Amino acid sequence: MAYRVLGRSGPAQPRRARRLLFAFTLSLSCSALCYSLLCCCAAPGPGRLLAAPRCPRRPAAPGPKLLPKSRPCAPPGPPPSAPRPPAANHSGAPKPGAKRLPQALIVGVKKGGTRAVLEFIRVHPDVRALGTEPHFFDRNYGRGLDWYRSLMPRTLESQITLEKTPSYFVTQEAPRRIFNMSRDTKLIVVVRDPVTRAISDYTQTLSKKPDLPAFEGLSFRNRSLGQVDASWNAIRIGLYALHLQGWLRYFPLAQIHFVSGERLITDPAGEMGRVQDFLGIRRLITDQHFYFNKTKGFPCLKKPASSLLPRCLGKSKGRTHVQIDPDVIEQLRDFYRPHNIKFYEAVGRDFRWE
Ligand SMILES: *[C@@H]1O[C@H](CO)[C@@H](O)[C@H](O)[C@H]1NC(C)=O
Ligand SMILES: *[C@@H]1O[C@H](CO)[C@@H](O)[C@H](O)[C@H]1NC(C)=O
Ligand SMILES: *[C@@H]1O[C@H](CO)[C@@H](O)[C@H](O)[C@H]1NC(C)=O
Ligand SMILES: *[C@@H]1O[C@H](CO)[C@@H](O)[C@H](O)[C@H]1NC(C)=O
Repeated sequence: MAYRVLGRSGPAQPRRARRLLFAFTLSLSCSALCYSLLCCCAAPGPGRLLAAPRCPRRPAAPGPKLLPKSRPCAPPGPPPSAPRPPAANHSGAPKPGAKRLPQALIVGVKKGGTRAVLEFIRVHPDVRALGTEPHFFDRNYGRGLDWYRSLMPRTLESQITLEKTPSYFVTQEAPRRIFNMSRDTKLIVVVRDPVTRAISDYTQTLSKKPDLPAFEGLSFRNRSLGQVDASWNAIRIGLYALHLQGWLRYFPLAQIHFVSGERLITDPAGEMGRVQDFLGIRRLITDQHFYFNKTKGFPCLKKPASSLLPRCLGKSKGRTHVQIDPDVIEQLRDFYRPHNIKFYEAVGRDFRWE
């Protein structure tokens, strides 16, 4: 609540001043590092704060999934009014920044709220994120780090490159491979009540495969004996404490940040504040960036003035879950309870799942 009060207390004036400061800082870094980026910074109107870091997504290519959304946004020639920065001496066509391996990854978990965290954090001018899931450390590792790097958006020195692939968290080889890329990689895990997560996961699969057997049947090896089928992916992913062990063999806990998928909905600014702290970037994403869509039951990013679309998550996000037998839910809660407690102890935070 303190957030809301703080965020809303100022009238239009300080907000505008902040935006101007932003625009100023942005154009400084833009012109200092590469004037071709000015095409982004030159977006009209005060919505620039939100629009600028997303510039290279503008082509919004509906093409192949793995196409990097990071095309240079430069027009064919240099903008006439842009002063040439003294420090940069490019030969040929100048490009904004360089493609770098990510310094931070959203590694999980599926249906935890990873898309929301990615969309929210990429509003930050110091973060550039890949819009698609490259699945490098699970499916595409054989293609090599150069391939992986080539997918990344261009970043300035001061910016963090980020990608999200939720399956990394449950991929046994992922911690070692990421450690091998850089032992300093910052890891973000969005976690959510494993029972709700399993149902959400199942609901998503069901929307693609309508003939999927009932959730109740898939959840148990023998229901009357209460034997939960932990080998079923929808159940297995929720064994967070188990998966975490694999990560802790390579990374200290301080290098892994856990986002509460529940808190992300009720207090997006608070959760995103902690994400920004973890990434070591200024807390620029605040309460003022969000509004709550009651119909959807989901927080959305406010529409930047220069964008045509509101920055709300797609239809599939926050979709209504199928009805599950309450007894089954109770049995699953019993099943997960000891695992959850282990997880709370391991990470030092009580997520308050039932
Ligand atoms: C760019 O500048 C560096 C020094 O800052 C200089 O060594 C290099 O030769 C320059 N390259 C070109 C292509 O002008
Ligand atoms: C570690 O990364 C290097 C490239 O930095 C690569 O050559 C090597 O094969 C990788 N090793 C493992 C075990 O993945
Ligand atoms: C479940 O266990 C009970 C008791 O052992 C047994 O009678 C029943 O056949 C089992 N059901 C299945 C589907 O294995
Ligand atoms: C809220 O979400 C509903 C359902 O997705 C949508 O139809 C509506 O336009 C949204 N309202 C706002 C203000 O974003």
